[in-house]
Amino acid sequence: MLRNAMFRNAVIFSLLLCFGSASWADERTQKTIEARQGLLKVVAQYFGPIVGMAKGQIPYDAALIEKNAGMIVQLAPMIPDMFAMDTSASDITSQAKADIWGDYADFSAKAATTAERAEALVAATAEGRGATMKAFGALGASCKSCHDSYRQKN
Ligand code: HEC
Repeated sequence: MLRNAMFRNAVIFSLLLCFGSASWADERTQKTIEARQGLLKVVAQYFGPIVGMAKGQIPYDAALIEKNAGMIVQLAPMIPDMFAMDTSASDITSQAKADIWGDYADFSAKAATTAERAEALVAATAEGRGATMKAFGALGASCKSCHDSYRQKN
């Protein structure tokens, strides 16, 4: 009985330490920001080679575009999830504008547009280089559209 009570008190004490401290919240915020920035870095890793092809820096490769655009189809819906937590009150450096949480539905819709355009790019790879690069331009415009509204360069 007594040991149970001591154990319970120890558990409650530990929980209070974890959830009550400001540093726990800071750490959670930091991890959230790192995760969403990591996600966008991964998006850019798949996007980058297609930019290289568009600029003629690397050979045109329809199969690679199809693969990379397919990855962006999967990754783009993760953007709203990784931005679900409003971190605007934190002083941790980030390029995310507070407006994201002012109109999270619009932010999410922009991510959905990116996913749709990535899907259209996958389809366009079967229609030749001209159609592919046109679809890629539309995908890039969807990234820019979100950045123009919701990302600030520090
Ligand atoms: C729905 C909005 C949205 C869409 C769509 C979007 N981005 Fe972003 N992106 C952001 C925001 C907001 C940030 C800043 C995040 C931060 O600093 O916490 C960002 C940051 C980035 C970064 C910097 C990551 C870092 O911290 O190093 C890159 C690179 C990037 N985006 C590339 C892209 C590309 C490429 C696309 C399109 C395929 C894209 N983004 C689509 C909102 C978006």
